[in-house]
Amino acid sequence: MDIGDAVPAPTSGAKTPAVVAYRKGFYWELKAGKRYLWCSCGRSKSQPFCDGSHAGTDFLPIAFKAERDEDVIFCGCKQTATGPFCDGAHSNLPGGYLTDDPNSAANRLVATVHAGTGPVVPLDGQCYVFSTARAPLRTCGALRYCPVVTPALGALFQSQFYANVGRGGSPVIAADGRHTVLFFMAGEGEIEISGRRFAVEPLMGFYIRPQEAFRIHNRAAAPIQLFISQGPGAEDLVWLTEMPGNFDSQHPRRSASIDPSQRHKMAERYYQMLVNRDQGSTVVTQFIGNIPLSKAEPHRHLYEEALIFLNGQGVVWTEGTKTPVAAGDVLFLPRKQLHSVQCTTPGGFDIVGVIYPGDNPSINY
Ligand code: FES
Repeated sequence: MDIGDAVPAPTSGAKTPAVVAYRKGFYWELKAGKRYLWCSCGRSKSQPFCDGSHAGTDFLPIAFKAERDEDVIFCGCKQTATGPFCDGAHSNLPGGYLTDDPNSAANRLVATVHAGTGPVVPLDGQCYVFSTARAPLRTCGALRYCPVVTPALGALFQSQFYANVGRGGSPVIAADGRHTVLFFMAGEGEIEISGRRFAVEPLMGFYIRPQEAFRIHNRAAAPIQLFISQGPGAEDLVWLTEMPGNFDSQHPRRSASIDPSQRHKMAERYYQMLVNRDQGSTVVTQFIGNIPLSKAEPHRHLYEEALIFLNGQGVVWTEGTKTPVAAGDVLFLPRKQLHSVQCTTPGGFDIVGVIYPGDNPSINY
């Protein structure tokens, strides 16, 4: 499938096939009050906008007036179900997910950044890879933790902390007005959210409402390892001396586990949403996904992302730099940062992403 090829347009119900004008989204800066006319047929020569070429087809352009100044991604493939904007459908065009040759002449010029003694490996822009294995941990009772993503480290929207909880349990941690999303890496025990207890096991996601607090209970010798993400971001965790009893029972469902039936395919890749609006998280979204042995074509997102590598090995690329990654590393990606993740493990590797603002990890440009 190449640019210009016609494919059936499953969402339009039209008889004439839409043409793939471009295999991913078009970044655009909308201006408040301005009118736009998005090409839905793919035949326009002034993409992503209409030039009248739909005449004689079953397609009509989509017209709208921007309510505010806003960055958007217009669909270029014309297969979106959320026209005029990209919904990630381009990832499943015939021909597969767009990949890149790590040994191309241009990629051979990209410099490798080697890890030093500290946890942060800086890449282009404000992008970096954080090694939880090299990070010094702070101690608060049986909880040991470190900041991974914070405003001081360059994040605008979210924060993330790596933590492990020894026998006994953690202190009470306040959500402190922030949407809080947890991902459990290892160990088994319980989480208490504002007086309500839930069992936890590895590879579960959890959500805590902004007015609530939580504590991890661990009766085993093995530590419980987890990542704590918050949006908006904070520089540090906030402790309470007592657990409040204000569990928000309007949102009783707080967790999500791996469920292959919930996977969204992106050609050879897939992802499953863990924490999103279904649990009540309107700000921070968490997903788990799998990347096969490949290097993605460089692309950008409109959301800020923290990507946790769960297993395997790979390489993270930005414009002029790259660095190896392994299990326990976290990639911090600012909005609009050009990047590419390469998996070098046969069979692929698993990742957990936390994104904000945004709720669809397959939208890119
Ligand atoms: S470009 Fe069409 S769905 Fe993304």
